[in-house]
Amino acid sequence: SVHDDLLVISNRQPYRHRYDDDGEVVTDQPVGGLTAGLDPVVQRVDGTWVAWGDGDADEEMVDEDDCVRVPPDDPSYTLRRVWLDDEDIEGYYYGFSNRVLWPLSHGLVGTMEYQENHWQQYREVNEVFAEAVAENAGENSLVWFQDYHFALAPRFVRERAPGPTLMQFWHIPWPDWDTFRACPVREEVLDGLLANDLLSFHVPRYCENFLGCVDACFDDAVVNESTGEVQRGSETTRVRAFPMGVDVDRIDEEAAACTDEEWVEFAEQIGIDPDVTLSVGVDRLDYTKGIPERLAALERFFEEHPDWQGELTHVQKLSESRSRIPAYGDVADRVEEAIERINGRFATDDWQPVVRLDSHLTTTQLYGLYRRADIALVSPVRDGMNLVAKEYVAAQTDDPGVLLLSELAGAEDELGEFALSIAPYDTASFADTIEQAVTMAEDERRERMANLRAAVAANDVDQWMADIFEEARQVRMARER
Ligand code: G6P
Repeated sequence: SVHDDLLVISNRQPYRHRYDDDGEVVTDQPVGGLTAGLDPVVQRVDGTWVAWGDGDADEEMVDEDDCVRVPPDDPSYTLRRVWLDDEDIEGYYYGFSNRVLWPLSHGLVGTMEYQENHWQQYREVNEVFAEAVAENAGENSLVWFQDYHFALAPRFVRERAPGPTLMQFWHIPWPDWDTFRACPVREEVLDGLLANDLLSFHVPRYCENFLGCVDACFDDAVVNESTGEVQRGSETTRVRAFPMGVDVDRIDEEAAACTDEEWVEFAEQIGIDPDVTLSVGVDRLDYTKGIPERLAALERFFEEHPDWQGELTHVQKLSESRSRIPAYGDVADRVEEAIERINGRFATDDWQPVVRLDSHLTTTQLYGLYRRADIALVSPVRDGMNLVAKEYVAAQTDDPGVLLLSELAGAEDELGEFALSIAPYDTASFADTIEQAVTMAEDERRERMANLRAAVAANDVDQWMADIFEEARQVRMARER
């Protein structure tokens, strides 16, 4: 490899230490998504991962350099924790990251709430992370920033260390200039990201939008749309699309591991008939996920098809997220009201149309649920990729179900042809599509799912990573020339 070592930087850490009820230190590992996908790679190369230490027992577990070897059972790389105080968290995480960059990147300008002091805090935290990176990076390191929490850190690292190759994956959409220009600090954000040698997004559209923003914002930037390169001063930034995948083999195994007995037990525990026609939704409780829109479609479906009352159950798993932010509280209220209303209108003595799950599911339960679900409703109003769609497909190991997928999710690029596309705000056609899905003939279901599974398997998380590292190698070689 042309790189000596790998540093990964993310806001969320791959392992968190906390005290349980008995005061014992236990380890949490976030299920699915970004951290779980990257963890095996960092293990393989014995890299360093820099992240916010947000567990109450985190400080006890680190050495004098704030480092701890992980995974706890079989240590194979170094986790360096960065400590943030309440003010940092408020400004950097709840403030600029999640009140400005998150809504703006999802095209929701009206939801953006900018505050100058949040921005200051965001800058400072990015600088703290950059210092930790600069301390740990050598001349030939590969430094990989994850997501919108670190738009400025690449610039701060570059000011301290000219050697390492810097790259970043932006896991959420990038909006067009008309939207992005609403950001009061647009220049600093773009300038920070352009300190990367390689900047990647999920789909080509986001790359084009980003290049368009750079072109519109800076007179001194030369943007080459066809090569995806930005030239500014002495710096070159490559902008590339790498659609993220899921760990197909592991999900397949987990889904298969959920036996009939376990499924029946779980179904009883959550109060559903194990043989009912099952619909599933799994989401962070976020206003981008289209949950109220999905519930409106389900309500319309039960109105128009009373014969399905008692026959179709929608299980909605929700994970509380960023709930201190008012826009999140609002969507949580809307979701709760909608579920109460639908259940109030249609429930019978022994059946509920919508079953809401808030507590943690084991991986076997989650993938067992995906596997048994006859349909999956993935209806974001905007989503960078949406890995739930891919996880559902990867877990469909027997009787094939039907994926309903929003045309506003990045995953639509790869899966749209074989999923049933939905426009989340068009309640009437969304309801019709639910009907189409639950009545679809087996051979059509089989064919669609076979194609979906092939697409998801062809670009799993290992492939995604391999493609990015190959590009990083080329970028490094180009820098040396
Ligand atoms: C999205 C972001 C991730 C983030 C995750 C969970 O997928 O792209 O960076 O970690 O949401 O949100 P949270 O704010 O809890 O980390």
